[in-house]
Amino acid sequence: MRRRDFVNWVGLGVLASSLPVAIAACQPDTASAPDAAPAEGESTAAAPSRDDGFVQVGSVSALDESGSIAEQNVAEQQVVVIRDPSDTAAVLAVNALCTHQGCSVDWNPDAGVFVCPCHDSQFNPDGSVAQGPATAPLPTYDAKIEGDIVLVSVS
Ligand code: FES
Repeated sequence: MRRRDFVNWVGLGVLASSLPVAIAACQPDTASAPDAAPAEGESTAAAPSRDDGFVQVGSVSALDESGSIAEQNVAEQQVVVIRDPSDTAAVLAVNALCTHQGCSVDWNPDAGVFVCPCHDSQFNPDGSVAQGPATAPLPTYDAKIEGDIVLVSVS
């Protein structure tokens, strides 16, 4: 074998053996993206459902401390729970997505309405529209208190 043929043969071998490593190194890290950890304070895990269809979304003490409970995944629905202003022994639950364009509404206890931060629609505690541009009410769900637990059923 001539020297030039030998050098070409070795060079081709090195290139062929390193090609899979180079290809793997250029691949995007797709394995970690779907399982990326949620941002701090954000929960994307589904809350466990009971046999009666109700899902625990938090504690009464947490509800009373913050004024509302926002749960990101109650059977794939984004829900906000508040004390019923007309019966503080009861709780009300609405879908948190504004019916105008889908921003998440926040409970404003001072005004007594859910407020959308995007275009300032407002919704009454029963989900009805108090101020547009939204025209459709927020869907409501069954909600109740058992002991110190707040439960919601979206079925
Ligand atoms: Fe809520 Fe527009 S998305 S008012």
